[in-house]
Amino acid sequence: MAAIFEATCTAPVNIAVVKYWGKRDTSLILPTNSSLSVTLSQDQLHSKTSIRASADFSTDRLWLNGHEESIEKNKRLVACLRETRALRASLEAENAALPKLSGLKIHICSENNFPTAAGLASSASGYACLVYTLSKLFELPLNASDLSVVARQGSGSACRSLFGGFVAWEMGEKADGSDSRAVQIAPETHWPDLQAMICVVSDEKKGTSSTEGMQLTVKTSALLQHRIKDVVPKRMDDMIAAIHAKDFPKFAELTMQDSNQFHAVCLDTYPPIFYINDISRAVIRIITEYNKDGVKAAYTFDAGPNAVIYAPKENMAEIYSILSHYFPGAAFDDSLNLVKENPQTIAAGLP
Ligand code: DP6
Repeated sequence: MAAIFEATCTAPVNIAVVKYWGKRDTSLILPTNSSLSVTLSQDQLHSKTSIRASADFSTDRLWLNGHEESIEKNKRLVACLRETRALRASLEAENAALPKLSGLKIHICSENNFPTAAGLASSASGYACLVYTLSKLFELPLNASDLSVVARQGSGSACRSLFGGFVAWEMGEKADGSDSRAVQIAPETHWPDLQAMICVVSDEKKGTSSTEGMQLTVKTSALLQHRIKDVVPKRMDDMIAAIHAKDFPKFAELTMQDSNQFHAVCLDTYPPIFYINDISRAVIRIITEYNKDGVKAAYTFDAGPNAVIYAPKENMAEIYSILSHYFPGAAFDDSLNLVKENPQTIAAGLP
């Protein structure tokens, strides 16, 4: 039996507070605007990936949440493999003593401990984990920002999951995408008082994928052009300043405004895309009412109906009890499971 080389890693989920929506290059995954997210702790939500390489394997194979999936049909996965193998091949060319891993077939086994494709950023943690695990297997001497350029080609939002804390994806300008990468704005230790709560409104797979939805928006929405040019550049600066100053009311206001505008842009798409539902809208109304005398919580929604609530730690118990009051079955009913999350802890195994 030939030698087996193996690496296993986990990677966290990130939830954007300035949303990425739209690509200017769909194969390299270059965005139409910069974005910013908070990386959640891996304690409750993460992807875990094991990769083995061996001369005994005759094809590349992938198992996702226990089911075998085709690799060849998945252009993005093929791109991540091609990029990391090429980097390994150049290391091997420089150092003849290194085992020739770049030519070996691999078996990839990946799982999420939360619903896949329900607007809970599974592609973000999934591709961050794939690329990070490949970099460990191939012993690539790259930092997290360099790896983010590869992870971005798996799924745009994945580039931000290579860091803990507060992370910007700078859209970049170059046609080859080398400057479209993630950078850490502040580490996970910066704002220990900030917490996130995830309200699982539905764990069903979403109707319109982010990938399809955002390109329909790019094609048809005039509001997106306004967002890209007139709104996001200033909002990125304001958000970075609010995070550095740990100014929760400002952070919350910007987060809610950006979520609202993202869903307005979805409605402006033709035909329109609806990600939030009646329960999501009820959560928005409850948080708005709760904030009436001062901003104490922020909601945000990605490409699905599930709410993520950001708030200072001291408000979380109150928010939980208010939401449980309006959704009394929540603690017992799968229609609204509330999961408390702490966004400060960086993934073990990530740089
Ligand atoms: C609404 O990263 O899933 O969550 O690059 O096509 O894989 P692809 O899209 P994806 O889109 C995420 C969209 C979002 C906003 C965000 O995370 O910034």
